[in-house]
Amino acid sequence: MEKQGKRRLRVVLVPLPFQGHINPMLQLGSILRSNGFSITVVHAQYSPPDPSSHPDFSFLSLPDTSSDFNVLTSDAFDFVLQLNAKCKARFRECLAADEATGADDGIACIIYDEFMFFSEETAKDLNLPSIILRTSSASNFLARTALIQLKTEGHIPFPESRSQDPVPKLYPLRFKDLPFSIFTNLENFLQMVSKTSNSKTSSAIIHNTINCLENSSLAKIQQQCQIPIFPIGPMHKIASASSSSLLEEDSSCLAWLHKQSCNSVIYVSLGTIAFMDVKEFVEMAWGLTNSQQSFLWVVRPGSVCGAEWIEVLPEGLKENIDERGYIVKWAPQKKVLAHNAVGGFLSHCGWNSTLESICEGVPMICKPCFGDQRVNARYVSHVWSVGLELESELERGEIERAVRRLIVDEEGKEMRKRGKNLKERIELCIKEGGSSNNSLNELIEMIMSF
Ligand code: UDX
Repeated sequence: MEKQGKRRLRVVLVPLPFQGHINPMLQLGSILRSNGFSITVVHAQYSPPDPSSHPDFSFLSLPDTSSDFNVLTSDAFDFVLQLNAKCKARFRECLAADEATGADDGIACIIYDEFMFFSEETAKDLNLPSIILRTSSASNFLARTALIQLKTEGHIPFPESRSQDPVPKLYPLRFKDLPFSIFTNLENFLQMVSKTSNSKTSSAIIHNTINCLENSSLAKIQQQCQIPIFPIGPMHKIASASSSSLLEEDSSCLAWLHKQSCNSVIYVSLGTIAFMDVKEFVEMAWGLTNSQQSFLWVVRPGSVCGAEWIEVLPEGLKENIDERGYIVKWAPQKKVLAHNAVGGFLSHCGWNSTLESICEGVPMICKPCFGDQRVNARYVSHVWSVGLELESELERGEIERAVRRLIVDEEGKEMRKRGKNLKERIELCIKEGGSSNNSLNELIEMIMSF
């Protein structure tokens, strides 16, 4: 293991600076740390991780990489391209300066988020191996790369009349489930897809997914690519429990949950980027209240366009909410989903939230907003059969009915049974001899061999 005088046991991680990407990258860091590697997280100044939540990692901040990017007003494609260019300019010298400070371990490899593709070129320049981390589902990756072919064949853009039609070769997806971005135009998005589909000189691809969930999508990806893929998820269940939350978690909701009965509460959160307008927000509030079920609702400040927080709720409605509901700005989500009072999750279906829910056997009401969330929602409702999808605009009657179907009706109980079964199968995958455990061991062997 000793090469050029230094033991190469240090892994450099390069996350994309968004919560849904930072979480799995830092979870991967914890997993590798507990397998004997030291971890250096190289990050942009935009939306940086909190070093105090991972005292056993080193953090290197890349100078001049801050940004005033706002997902509602800026083009995400431009942001990611600029971020890659800025980081590339600093990455090499930052690593060299760090090496010169005399770290005990040499760098074994660089593991980078698929959207931080500049890392692959730098790794190649420095003669270091690199590995890609894909933080969304395998099925999303297949659907996203298929967009290029669908465009060439004239299937997209598609008219509204085709939105319910099945997409050729992408069962069970319909055209409306395709993972388009709403943060840039189609041409830009397809350019980004092409950049993230090409593994170039990287040695392997890590997927935060599980064979028992996505066996056939993983097999297709492996057929298409020449390098090994390692489905080692669900990483949040394998990593130590430290939080990588960028926002302060309000744990008072756990005390509130303790007072609720088993499977009685619907947990509501639309993640870290999705937003709604005031009308949708008020419809959601009425729907939840009218369902007569208890609910814990995360309303992220700024997630309702034109409002600071919940001040736009009409007065009478606020009082109704107080009877059955509990609203927080940010929750310790994994602990919430693991609480036995939670009987369902109304979610935007970001991949982390989807995995976290499935791993606790909590059935979902899917309200996907954009991108991979649509693919995930379709798989939750039509492949794993542990949820139902809200198909139309947010409307109080539809929300009320969906909550009651999940929490009160027999249909919800059946989903909970299937969810429990899936949870147990996932637990087997991460135990010794299980598929994720085997993949993790192979990944570790590969890194040791570099
Ligand atoms: C973004 C994209 O929207 C998503 O489609 C992609 O899969 C990942 O990046 P995001 O909105 O961040 O997703 O959602 P998600 O992937 O579910 O990640 C959110 C994370 O924040 C989860 O790990 C969740 O546990 C955490 N969270 C959310 C909290 O800790 N507290 C909360 O109150 C809400």
